[in-house]
Amino acid sequence: MSNRKETSKNSRSNSNTNNSITNNSITSNSITSNSDTSNINASNRDTNNSDMNDSNTNRSNINACNASSNKTAIINIRQHPEWLERAADYFSSRWQIDRQLYMDSMQDSFTTKESVPRWYLMVEGEEIVGGYGLIDNDFMVRTDLCPWLCALYVEPDKRGQQLGAKLLEHSRYEAEKLGFKKVYLNTDHVGYYEKYGWHYLGDFAHQSGDDTRVYEIVAMPKLEEMGDFFDIRAGFYDNHMLEDLKLDEFYEVISNCFTRPIKRLLDLGCGTGLEFERLFERFSEMEVTGIDLSQEMLNVLADKYPDKKMQLLCGSYFTEDFAGLYDHVLSTYSLHHFSEEKKLELYKKVYASLEPEGIFVFGDYTVPTLERQQELWAANLAKRREQGIDEDAYYHFDTPFTPETEMRLMKEAGFTSMDIVWQRETTSIIIAKK
Ligand SMILES: C[S@@+](CC[C@H](N)C(=O)[O-])C[C@H]1O[C@@H](n2cnc3c(N)ncnc32)[C@H](O)[C@@H]1O
Repeated sequence: MSNRKETSKNSRSNSNTNNSITNNSITSNSITSNSDTSNINASNRDTNNSDMNDSNTNRSNINACNASSNKTAIINIRQHPEWLERAADYFSSRWQIDRQLYMDSMQDSFTTKESVPRWYLMVEGEEIVGGYGLIDNDFMVRTDLCPWLCALYVEPDKRGQQLGAKLLEHSRYEAEKLGFKKVYLNTDHVGYYEKYGWHYLGDFAHQSGDDTRVYEIVAMPKLEEMGDFFDIRAGFYDNHMLEDLKLDEFYEVISNCFTRPIKRLLDLGCGTGLEFERLFERFSEMEVTGIDLSQEMLNVLADKYPDKKMQLLCGSYFTEDFAGLYDHVLSTYSLHHFSEEKKLELYKKVYASLEPEGIFVFGDYTVPTLERQQELWAANLAKRREQGIDEDAYYHFDTPFTPETEMRLMKEAGFTSMDIVWQRETTSIIIAKK
């Protein structure tokens, strides 16, 4: 029931289909089909990355998901036994694992007093478009880790609509409700789950006798205050962005967006200044004003460039006064947390701070559809309400907009031309001219 790719070791496990479920766990090896994480990968290609999303990201919960997407719902089979037979057929056929295994586990979910197993289907009307399970052991030798996300699947013709990401988010939300602090999965896939904030724990023994990659993620946690969130992560932030998320190309493109020499640059949410490395190589004399909520991030930045002309302000770009005239303003991976109203206000400030023909370079997470944008915003509001957090307080929850929304706001703020100059997966770079 794992999320592992078919390999010889998994083929070996094909012979092992007479498994039983004991103590809520399937006590023998899993069989994966050709269509595991590489398929999920495809299905998630346009989903939202997060900057440091081990604590939260893009986690529209099921309510938000259902509220804004009329078509797709995620149902808990425990509450919908009428789907049992179809669900067993579904997982068994997709993963080519003995149907009885799924049947037993799902039936167990109806009666158990334990938190797992639980099984979920993503449905559109009467059609099953995906699903997953939370079980207490996914054929792993270590039994202390629980629960395991297993059998994650999205129909091939439904991929590219972020459904896999929604299932992943949903698993975290459910795990939290079920009282777990973390969720685990095993897979042979490298580099995919990292994008969605899953942390590679290491290679652990699988009951097949081989080792398999194990990932963990915190179940939906309490929202963290923005400055604290980045203060805590400042020490390993660069490594996360460059090694885990492989964003080197992004920063290269950002540098190339500056075709005229930079004299005075304002950076909104400069953090540790990953965006400056190439810029200082090209424009060694540029003067930088960097604003950031996190003193720890700014400390890392200050240590990197002791000899450069930098003025670093610890505060919010919404409240800091940056009226001076800049020829360029830059913001990378920082603005995807705020409402349209706040951003419009900020873009007006940016516009006013630029000299005539000044340039604003925006590089940030974006979503492909307005529906997704609204879904994330609704999830953000719901989470804040749950936790008694004010809508405008600076808390870390990713709510990226579509590039079109960003450009509309820039236009309303006064910018005369906006161009999307680069897009990859979940990131867009927009150049706006005064
Ligand atoms: C993901 S980091 C990006 C840092 C850097 N620009 C980069 O590309 O690596 C986001 C940064 O935005 C900062 N930030 C978030 N909201 C902010 C606000 N309202 N005012 C100033 N900084 C903010 C955070 O503290 C964090 O350092």
